[in-house]
Amino acid sequence: MTKKSSNTVWHHATITRADREKLHGHKSVIVWFTGLSGSGKSTLAHAVEDYLHKQGISTFVLDGDNVRHGLCSDLSFSDSDRIENIRRIGELAKLIIEAGVITLTAFISPFKSDRNSARNLVPHGDFLEIYCQCPIETCEQRDVKGLYKKARAGEIPFFTGIDSPYEAPEQPELVVNTHEQSLDDSVQRVIELLVSRGVIQ
Ligand code: PPS
Repeated sequence: MTKKSSNTVWHHATITRADREKLHGHKSVIVWFTGLSGSGKSTLAHAVEDYLHKQGISTFVLDGDNVRHGLCSDLSFSDSDRIENIRRIGELAKLIIEAGVITLTAFISPFKSDRNSARNLVPHGDFLEIYCQCPIETCEQRDVKGLYKKARAGEIPFFTGIDSPYEAPEQPELVVNTHEQSLDDSVQRVIELLVSRGVIQ
């Protein structure tokens, strides 16, 4: 079958990612937060962005709820649509790191194979997977958006952790226990990871 995008030719930019990183004064990577709904992915991603921004570092957060209002508004929460959701986010994050910007993604991204596909889109070391580990009981107690209550009442089909699976990462670059660690501690752990990988100083 002919792909819809055949007969296109890749255009090489004159200004490279390395040029943009040099201008920004730091490297660009994808910081991929994964975890159950209510595990603290968005809170942590935005807190890390806040910290980095105050240090003059160029960042951008891609957040599940927000992206599903636009770029991915045509997608549901079926397995196949989640796969497409994460495929798009991986490609988008890849473009943003080309811009020399540290890209923080906050998606449940429940399937290992999709997270690995996103990892494999970029050079080795440019994808840092952070598992926001939190027991589902705690996520459900928090129920910030009231979604667990609705899911238990059968009002939201295919809810992650209830009637749709979540595959925890086996070898993430970092695990944060959001039910035990404070937000400040978790932010510091992420920052230490970025320093240890030479992304920032
Ligand atoms: S996925 O699985 O990665 O494609 O999901 P994502 O794009 O991150 O979207 C998750 C947010 O959508 C809301 N929501 C649901 N989550 C899980 N399962 C179902 N069925 C569902 N329906 C709506 C929910 O607010 C998720 O946000 P977070 O921030 O994870 O709580």
